[in-house]
Amino acid sequence: IGQNIVYYDTVDSTQKIAHELSQKGAEEGTLVVADEQTGGRGRMARVWYSPKGTGIWMSIILRPNIPLQKTPQLTLLTAVALVEGIEEATGLSPTIKWPNDILINGKKAVGILTELEAEADQVHSVIIGIGINVNQQIDEFPEAIRNTATSIAIEKGEKIHRALIIQKFLERFEKWYTTYLEHGFKPIKLLWESYSISLNKTIHARTLSGTVVGKALGINEEGALLIETSEGKIEKVYSADIDIK
Ligand code: BTN
Repeated sequence: IGQNIVYYDTVDSTQKIAHELSQKGAEEGTLVVADEQTGGRGRMARVWYSPKGTGIWMSIILRPNIPLQKTPQLTLLTAVALVEGIEEATGLSPTIKWPNDILINGKKAVGILTELEAEADQVHSVIIGIGINVNQQIDEFPEAIRNTATSIAIEKGEKIHRALIIQKFLERFEKWYTTYLEHGFKPIKLLWESYSISLNKTIHARTLSGTVVGKALGINEEGALLIETSEGKIEKVYSADIDIK
């Protein structure tokens, strides 16, 4: 992973470039990195603020031989590698908020956006987009996210080299991706659960079809969050925003 790195000063979105390269047959592990994105995308059609020089905006092309419904596992794997890579590079202790936000001291520092190219039930490629707020100061964030977002520099109290974080992340990613292809999801799931702050807490999950309230028990093989409601029923939530009470 990351043997082939494509670097840009400014792009619309590294996701878009990665899709284009993937269509042209780019090899597995190709990494697209940009210093600035003018059209950075987040989950649920949100905008991802990607200013010049202060963050890591990157996309990885993967070509795993897995069925469609297992692709959320790769997002969870990426979250695990990010927690460990950031911890190694900075000494901070990030946590994961389901499905794929990485928090530092309770605020969001990293987002992951996974997109697929598939035919029938077979995955052709998976593009994993990662945005890491590294060296922003608080007044550099748009006002709307100032209370909920943070950067590594804010939490650490000093600036840090972006290349070090990329390097540590790629080492962890390569290790867990190889483990995953050889041994499956189980070891990743256990790590993910150990870094998660959502589990065993009462949460409100806002889905497209309504809000589910209950205790988060864990995740299943498909990466769905299992929530036990007050009636004792177990609901599977595949896509939502959650509030932790
Ligand atoms: C989220 O909503 O939390 C996911 C944010 C993902 C942002 C990254 S930055 C690199 C890549 N290119 C994009 O346009 N988005 C992802």
